[in-house]
Amino acid sequence: MKETKAQFVLAATDPSSFPRDQRAEVAFLGRSNVGKSSLLNSLLGVRGLARTSSTPGRTQSINFFLIEQSYYFVDLPGYGYAKTSKEKRRAWGQLIERYLAERPQLVLSILLVDARHEPTLSDLQMKSWLQHHGLPFWVVCTKVDKLSANERRKAQQQAMATLGTDRVIPYSSITREGSGQVWEVIRSSVARSS
Ligand code: GTP
Ligand code: MG
Repeated sequence: MKETKAQFVLAATDPSSFPRDQRAEVAFLGRSNVGKSSLLNSLLGVRGLARTSSTPGRTQSINFFLIEQSYYFVDLPGYGYAKTSKEKRRAWGQLIERYLAERPQLVLSILLVDARHEPTLSDLQMKSWLQHHGLPFWVVCTKVDKLSANERRKAQQQAMATLGTDRVIPYSSITREGSGQVWEVIRSSVARSS
């Protein structure tokens, strides 16, 4: 597996610690446990760069990774974990809101949804948020290795219909199915911005 040069730069729990840098950023957003950190690791061909866990709510800060010295991958904390306290949820909302609203260098958001379930209300809210801020996004349907080819097609169609976009890529961080297409989308967004 080809490895892409990547390094962890910082974990921000407050907008004042976002990198002071003009380089392009690609953000990974989605429900807790949907596979954001796994997507990041599998795209880069590096195990354990972004911490993954079967315990939802693992990633609680906004984590910045510098890729090929030229742009950032941004791993956002997941939403929709039922056991998270109200207070934490509010803090999460504010942090993400500020991030999405105040980062002109954010060239692409990748919204992850679980291929095995219909997109949730929070997923729809997230999508509205992105549209409200005029941010370009693609949807990645994760964990398709758990589905048959037929179920996979259905999941993709359902995500397209519910989220109102045809920019949906089926993905598995285990088989790496979909990684070529995800990289294409990332590279063209980053190239357009430079
Ligand atoms: P938070 O940081 O809590 O928001 O979660 P996350 O979205 O970063 O999820 P993470 O990557 O930690 O993955 C959660 C669980 O799903 C882990 O047990 C992963 O191994 C598993 N997982 C992630 N992607 C896939 C996939 O494509 N296929 C399968 N079968 N399992 C996956
Ligand atoms: Mg994570």
